[in-house]
Amino acid sequence: MNKFISVTDVADIDGLIAKALSYKANPRMDQSLGKNKRIGLLFLNPSMRTRLSTQLAAQNLGMEVIIFNVGQDGWALEFEEEAIMSGNTVEHVKDAAPILGKYFDILGIRTFPSLKNKEDDYSELYINQFIKYAGIPVVSLESATLHPLQSLTDLITIQEIFKEKRKPKIVLTWAPHVKALPQCVANSFAQWVNAWGQANFVITHPEDYELDQKFTKGATIIHDQDDALRDADFVYVKNWSTFIDYGKIYTNDTEWMMTNEKLTLTRSAKVMHCLPVRRNVELSDEILDSKNSIVTHQAANRIWAAQVVLSEILKER
Ligand code: CP
Repeated sequence: MNKFISVTDVADIDGLIAKALSYKANPRMDQSLGKNKRIGLLFLNPSMRTRLSTQLAAQNLGMEVIIFNVGQDGWALEFEEEAIMSGNTVEHVKDAAPILGKYFDILGIRTFPSLKNKEDDYSELYINQFIKYAGIPVVSLESATLHPLQSLTDLITIQEIFKEKRKPKIVLTWAPHVKALPQCVANSFAQWVNAWGQANFVITHPEDYELDQKFTKGATIIHDQDDALRDADFVYVKNWSTFIDYGKIYTNDTEWMMTNEKLTLTRSAKVMHCLPVRRNVELSDEILDSKNSIVTHQAANRIWAAQVVLSEILKER
């Protein structure tokens, strides 16, 4: 593996999940793999779980880790080719990224979308510029449209918990939120579950909240949340802003918040969320504080997803 931006960078999802679970059982088993290797984790946006879990994963592999909060401490970066830099940006990514490529063996990058320019966001302008100019493997710590470390974690968690012979029913449900959020987590979860192909996969959201079909194709899309939830084994709760009329909030319909009453429609489903979560907006206290919630278990598994991805890259270097 020479980059990790999308499920399309992965040859064997099941193999990756199995290896991640073996790291969970024995975190230090490949402690010499990253010896004398250095990873730079660049954050253009905030993070808790991704930052810490990737750091722990790299340390488990014996790597040295340096974290750089570009958005806070670095020069304002320019990403447009042929930009006339007479505005607020100070350094072009084509000047900064090659230097990072000399300092590090692997680069992890978190960049959020603008939610204003759909074309730029969906072309993954920022992360692709780093890939183009850094000359070393790049790992997405969440990009404009996808969050692959989160989605790999989600599949690891589902595989670990679901022990029945049949396929699980997994429902991705839109939830209300007070802010316009990216589509990344929902896009990515849909992309990975579809590529994995081992679930009965349903997506439910209000009309006008359609996601990009490039990621959802293969899922059943139902606009009635109650219908969608029936007999679910896993319910993945997430807000996203509109994709078609880009980056808007049309409804903040509290009826879409997941509650215990709605869970009675399911097979006592396990409830997932990538976190951070707005309590009693996206998900009720009663669920988050109940045994149905696996959000802490899920977030803890972030380490093993990061560790298996870094190990696959290190193996080839
Ligand atoms: N789920 C997730 O990416 O969390 P952070 O934003 O805290 O990294």
